[in-house]
Amino acid sequence: MSNSLQIIHASGSIFVTGTDTDIGKTVISAALTLALDGSYWKPVQAGLEGGGDSAAVQRMTALPNFRIHRPAYELRIPRSPHEAAHREGVRITLSDFILPKERRFLVVEGAGGALVPMNDESLMADLMAHLGLPVLLVARSGLGTINHTLLSIEALRQRGLELLGVVMNGAPDAANRQAIEHYGKVRVIAEVPVLASLSPQSISALAKRLRQALDALE
Ligand SMILES: Nc1ncnc2c1ncn2[C@@H]1O[C@H](COP(=O)(O)OP(=O)(O)OP(=O)(O)O)[C@@H](O)[C@H]1O
Ligand SMILES: [Mg+2]
Repeated sequence: MSNSLQIIHASGSIFVTGTDTDIGKTVISAALTLALDGSYWKPVQAGLEGGGDSAAVQRMTALPNFRIHRPAYELRIPRSPHEAAHREGVRITLSDFILPKERRFLVVEGAGGALVPMNDESLMADLMAHLGLPVLLVARSGLGTINHTLLSIEALRQRGLELLGVVMNGAPDAANRQAIEHYGKVRVIAEVPVLASLSPQSISALAKRLRQALDALE
């Protein structure tokens, strides 16, 4: 078994972050949850239209409700968690985040990117450290990704977080992949193309591909 795969299995959970909001964390978390026969948790949800990311994962995976854990904080306003909380008169406290008791593998999805604020002192990266989870970084495949991805990698490593690898989302771009691997000294675990639909069928097919990519890691 590879290092990354060993870490994934040993930890029992991973934290999925991204180089930006709307980068594909939920789509990839949904497929990963199926690939690892796991459960899903969005610890802090800001923006509840359409039921938020938990509902999106349920729609994409058709998983039973008990495999999708409730967020610790659900905020109505679609802004950075610190700002949404402030406007709603809530204070987000790191010690409120306790990993759900789960015998399955747990996929944890952050909000936005690694340096999104949670409150006056803490950033999303502090939540990753608080939960003690290794991190998977979702990045776009196209123009601009090298800078955003390298910045995110630097921020994660500076905080002593374990970076398992990067998943690139969007039309595959070999040169960008190579640059991220070379300059970021990181493994691109998978390249996920633009999917024509996000049905349980297509997400299940993506899950099989992710599983193969994880199994093939050296
Ligand atoms: N590979 C893909 N193929 C097709 N559509 C995609 C793909 N990846 C993402 N999308 C679409 O792009 C949008 C943003 O994706 P997603 O919700 O996964 O981003 P996110 O990083 O989870 O955002 P947030 O920061 O709000 O949690 C969604 O409408 C999603 O359906
Ligand atoms: Mg999301």
